[in-house]
Amino acid sequence: MTQNLPKAEIHCHIEGAAPPALALSQAERYGVDMSGFLRDGVYIWRDFSEFLVAYDAVAALFRTEADYALLTQTYLDELSAIGTIYSEIIVSPDHGDRIGLGADAYLAGICDGIAAAKERSGIEARIIVTGERHFGPERVIAAAEYAARAKNPLVTGFNMAGEERMGRVADYARAFDIARDAGLGLTIHAGEVCGAFSVTDALDLVKPARIGHGVRAIEDDALVARLAELGTVLEVCPGSNIALSVFADFDSHPLKRLKAAGVKVCINSDDPPFFSTSLAREYDIASTVIRMSDAEINSMTRTALEAAFVDDATKAALLARFDREIGDQAVSMT
Ligand code: ADE
Ligand code: ZN
Repeated sequence: MTQNLPKAEIHCHIEGAAPPALALSQAERYGVDMSGFLRDGVYIWRDFSEFLVAYDAVAALFRTEADYALLTQTYLDELSAIGTIYSEIIVSPDHGDRIGLGADAYLAGICDGIAAAKERSGIEARIIVTGERHFGPERVIAAAEYAARAKNPLVTGFNMAGEERMGRVADYARAFDIARDAGLGLTIHAGEVCGAFSVTDALDLVKPARIGHGVRAIEDDALVARLAELGTVLEVCPGSNIALSVFADFDSHPLKRLKAAGVKVCINSDDPPFFSTSLAREYDIASTVIRMSDAEINSMTRTALEAAFVDDATKAALLARFDREIGDQAVSMT
């Protein structure tokens, strides 16, 4: 079991982390009928397109700065309770704009939640601003411009999520140029719904340090070798991939094969309650279903920390805490 292992994740969408009970209480507060998206405490969707619609419906239940502070704190408290020392939260200022809250207040609420959680448990967190691909290149570029001018010390990266089948990476490359020029770390969803070509596009046109998912790179041996050579980190989300039918089952999931091929990989929860998962379950799956050893799992957590978009001093402190915790564990097992 992995319950005592220190944990980290660098790929979780904030609205996608909303526990169904919290979504329900928000729906009651705002008088929203969620029966089409939430039944018996479970989010309802059938495929990737429906998942994105359900995601946006849940996102629309968070309407104030305080709502976002509560959501962020709830998620980070859950993570710290299972031994997580670091989390990167993917956020979409566009959501803030769409619900009339505004991007600044949206971000301020998330920052408040991070501060409150850190105060309580010491968990460290950073924010990755994302553009949503299905809203088109202009919105993604606007998200990058926002992230660049926000100059918020907790905003340390830029991502693109959403419908991967919409357009090609080239249509969105300008957004990443803006984010790179602003000194933000780059990561991009690719090789999840679309195949290996999408990962190749990302490497050629964005040159990201990390890729969200990237797992369908397994369809192309030369691409796997290229990822290993470049040291690009794949933010792998096994439970999400199975729930969204990217792979039929955990036996055919390529996490272990990618790691064995020398690709840097780490474990993440993506949108946990949408996929009936949690970061704790993802760690357990890696251990008991994918059959990775504690040493392999710890090496993935180390990869997440090494790939974190944080300043050097914070990274060193996180790695020192991680080493201390795995060292303590080795001692307690003797
Ligand atoms: N937005 C939230 N979760 C996502 C995922 N798994 N893929 C693409 N966009 C997303
Ligand atoms: Zn994602």
